[in-house]
Amino acid sequence: MKKYRVKEVFTPTTPARIAFIDRESINDKLVNALEMPGKQLIVYGHSGSGKTTLLANKLDQLYENHITTHCMKGMKFDQIVLDAFDQLDTYYPSELGTARKNTVSAELTATYFLIKSKLQASETTELTKKEQRILPPQLTPQALGKLLGAAKCCWILEDFHKIDDSEKTQLSQLMKVFMDLSDKYEDLKIVALGAVDTARQVVEYDNEMRNRVAEIHVELMTEPEIESIVKKGEAALNVAFEGELKTLIAKYSNGLASVCHHLCMYMCQAAGVEETATEQIVLDINHFESALRLYVEEASDSIRSAFEKALKQRRKTQYHHTNIILEALCSFNERGASRVELLQKIRRKIPKYPEISLKNTLEKLKTDDYGSMLRFNQTAGLFSFSDLIFRVFAMAHFRNNGVNQKNKGNSASSDVAQLIQLLEAEIKKSFPEGARLFIAKGV
Ligand SMILES: Nc1ncnc2c1ncn2[C@@H]1O[C@H](COP(=O)(O)OP(=O)(O)O)[C@@H](O)[C@H]1O
Ligand SMILES: [Mg+2]
Repeated sequence: MKKYRVKEVFTPTTPARIAFIDRESINDKLVNALEMPGKQLIVYGHSGSGKTTLLANKLDQLYENHITTHCMKGMKFDQIVLDAFDQLDTYYPSELGTARKNTVSAELTATYFLIKSKLQASETTELTKKEQRILPPQLTPQALGKLLGAAKCCWILEDFHKIDDSEKTQLSQLMKVFMDLSDKYEDLKIVALGAVDTARQVVEYDNEMRNRVAEIHVELMTEPEIESIVKKGEAALNVAFEGELKTLIAKYSNGLASVCHHLCMYMCQAAGVEETATEQIVLDINHFESALRLYVEEASDSIRSAFEKALKQRRKTQYHHTNIILEALCSFNERGASRVELLQKIRRKIPKYPEISLKNTLEKLKTDDYGSMLRFNQTAGLFSFSDLIFRVFAMAHFRNNGVNQKNKGNSASSDVAQLIQLLEAEIKKSFPEGARLFIAKGV
């Protein structure tokens, strides 16, 4: 039996490989788009839905080469182009003289070195910092396309939604140039990834490009998908999750595979499993409980900081919108509530609460700036907390603040032990399978 380390199998913060599962619902669409010459891709969906992992695994299976640019807020389009150019380093010979041996044409290699020398020259003369480098006029969209195309490279733009709208227009232009070049370079392709609700929020492209852009929505995982991750892990590590634990983990993960990887990793840790066991080891509810405790402890700082972001009052306004809305959302079950339901709930307390404030604030609460507190399920039309822990934390927060205003800054919700209790209570209430397990154990 092949031996794996637990952290190679359960990967809460990096793309899964060993425990990677194919996503039936999108696999064909993604593979077709990746294989079709000239097709540009926009992959979108909630943060944590598995976009990066999916791409990483599929590119390994299907593509010769790829480069990845990680986009950040405030990044200019020129910098993005320069980042791609810098990464071409590995595909072009380090000396002009060896160019002919390479598959890349001599002319392109010459272009590459010309641009490289221009960049170096401007760096030494102006002593500019890397972030402020100037795009040499020779590094045109066509030139970049040819250089990438000749290297058989696909270009991944991670988190493209973070780029300012004014810069985004240029990407759509670049995509158009790449489409035109695909006659000659069939591997040339841009894949833009964004944690947003629609493809157009990632790249606003022209209607005439419609047929040549594939929009791929990565949904949060279904419970059977998450259970498959646990099963893959079981097989790789020679462990067995007892009884209904797989179902419980899947439910608890609430669509987020990273939660599943975290819990499984901590359960192995609790059972002293570090690598593939020689004889099968059984993981039970006690391990699950330890894992949950560790997960909450570990996450508590980031949960707190997410809440600080969400609840911070940016301006003096009549209402504390985020407070009002998150508190209202707590009164619904974990599946969440529609906007109309939320409005009704809020207006019972504040009859004149403006609908537009609700609409705007809900949008904000989905963004990084507000701790990515909420998610919106398009199919069901429901807003919910993006992580079950957020929901439990919010319930504790509002309960405590409601009862005891004096303790506001130091609410007992910061108390991990209490949070765990609430989590367990929540599990018992929401997930009958979990309840049975806890009851069996006598918790
Ligand atoms: N298909 C998959 N199979 C197994 N684990 C996955 C899969 N997709 C994502 N994951 C896990 O989920 C977590 C988040 O995935 P990621 O690709 O970073 O999401 P996104 O890029 O959409 O934010 C990671 O821990 C990753 O290992
Ligand atoms: Mg990602």
